[in-house]
Amino acid sequence: SNKPVLAPSPFSVPSDLPKLPEVAGTDPTRCVLDSFRIAIAKVVADALEPLTVEQVYQGVDYGKKGEDFTVALPRFKLPGKIDELAKKVIAKFQPDEWIESVTHDRAFLHFRCRTNTLTRLVLDQIHALTYDTASKQPEYGANYLGEGKRVIIEYSSPNIAKSFHVGHLRSTIIGAFLANLYKACGWEVLSLNYLGDWGTQFGLIAVGFEKYGSQEALEKDAIQHLFEIYVKVNAEAEKDPSIRDEAAAWFKRMEDGDEEALKNWRVWRQLSVRKYAEEYDRLNVHFDAYTGESEVPQESMDKALKQLQELNLIEEDNGALRVNLEKYKLGKAVVRKRDGTSIYLTRDIGGAVERYNKYKFDKMIYVISAQQDMHVAQFFKVLELMGFDWAKNLEHVNYGLVQGMSTRKGTVVFLDQIIREAASVMHEQMRKNEDKYNAIEDPEYVAQEIGITGIKIQDMAAKRINNYTFNWDRMLSFEGDTGPYLQYAHVRLSSIERKNPELLPLPAPSQLKTDLLVEPQAREIAFLLGTYPDVVKTALKTHEPSGIVTFGFRLSHAISSAWETVIVKGEQDKEKAKARMALYLAARDVLGAALRLLSIRPLERM
Ligand code: ARG
Repeated sequence: SNKPVLAPSPFSVPSDLPKLPEVAGTDPTRCVLDSFRIAIAKVVADALEPLTVEQVYQGVDYGKKGEDFTVALPRFKLPGKIDELAKKVIAKFQPDEWIESVTHDRAFLHFRCRTNTLTRLVLDQIHALTYDTASKQPEYGANYLGEGKRVIIEYSSPNIAKSFHVGHLRSTIIGAFLANLYKACGWEVLSLNYLGDWGTQFGLIAVGFEKYGSQEALEKDAIQHLFEIYVKVNAEAEKDPSIRDEAAAWFKRMEDGDEEALKNWRVWRQLSVRKYAEEYDRLNVHFDAYTGESEVPQESMDKALKQLQELNLIEEDNGALRVNLEKYKLGKAVVRKRDGTSIYLTRDIGGAVERYNKYKFDKMIYVISAQQDMHVAQFFKVLELMGFDWAKNLEHVNYGLVQGMSTRKGTVVFLDQIIREAASVMHEQMRKNEDKYNAIEDPEYVAQEIGITGIKIQDMAAKRINNYTFNWDRMLSFEGDTGPYLQYAHVRLSSIERKNPELLPLPAPSQLKTDLLVEPQAREIAFLLGTYPDVVKTALKTHEPSGIVTFGFRLSHAISSAWETVIVKGEQDKEKAKARMALYLAARDVLGAALRLLSIRPLERM
């Protein structure tokens, strides 16, 4: 089942710390920075009655560089001068184990968390919530926001027999991330791949298959073979329009359920799905179900059309039917062809109704290119006009174009070419350092994983809607903000245990001397680690993977900066070395969690 396991967090705030009030919507057992925010809210509320802790809590924000948290006083709209109010808070403030200091800068109050409490609790919480494959317990960063709710996420959705272009790759990458994200937030997730497996082009391929089809080539690589046939017969049809008529007649037979006409198509679909599934596996992307345009039942489309007619939204155009959405600035769209066959838009309308009846989702997300914004807006609007209350729970997660994706041999059209090219570019890169290369156990695998990481990180590093240009050299470099750089950071953190076996096993974090972690670099890492649960929550709101990627880079940079000063190997004070090691291992676990959320498999060695 997809139902998430919602085990209670094994972490709780230690009882030796000053008691804090509870605030609705917070959960210190999963995000211990919530406690620090509550402590700050209490300081302010105590000084500025009748403000409540809840009210102030909403206004405790992350600070700018060097500050932990900031409260902007004007937002509370209190009577009196801001300056006076600030002074009142400062006068009343007593440092404690939660908050070490407060400063006043114009309308802002800046708070600093007690370093030792911060470090100790963050390490303790991460340790308690470490990823455990056996229990499948949601790890550090997870939350319960979606408890009891079900989301359908549709992504990838390539067309069989046409090329799998970069647009589909983006949908695949972003969709896989969203599926992981919703699971981490307690939702029950159903991921769907809605194949483009229906439409007139299959009539065309059927005509082409009779001429050029080969069972052997089909078995070998169905996607490639069907694509070749499609290209050939399409070119022919350009010259000879009778081929199109033949194709249309064939597709009509398919729509009418003529088993003879459907026989080959079934095999094509099955072999294509098999091939795709292998490649998705390589990408660490999974679907709960493969559906497709072919699976939208005729009757659900007929019903929709009838309903639209009753609503007076349908007009006839030369025998075809159109829905008029001009009132909504969404133009007119054909919903049924002259020969009675269905089209893309109608299938989306019928498909959504079908999915709701089957799954009763609380939300349904479509991850589709921004090039189809109009199409999506049209079918969402139609569903709304048809009076479905759940239409408001549909969401389109869109994304921009990718330019210039080609291999060294030419244009890429297939997913497996993209994966192979990434692996081979990476492999060459690794070979340049012979000593290192020879030390790697399975260089082919490592090259492929890093290559795929490079593609994914490049894709998710910026806001979804931005277009970007595919650049093999940039994405596969170990320098700069790239996928390989993140994998390298994870590998380096993973090596600490191997290099310092005499410190193992580490005592539980509560037994560590975390007060020895005094360097600002160490504090920076601890604080960043503490923010991770918030980073996840923000991503859920924005549907932007870039926030997670940015977090990964910030953490990796903070680790690089600490590496020289906060040393483990060579540190004489064993207690200090152990505390530092625990910090790095926590960083490894959280970086690993972030990478997994992005559908990337973190490497231990390279
Ligand atoms: N197969 C379509 C294409 O390649 C994408 C499908 C998107 N999903 C949908 N429900 N329309 O353009």
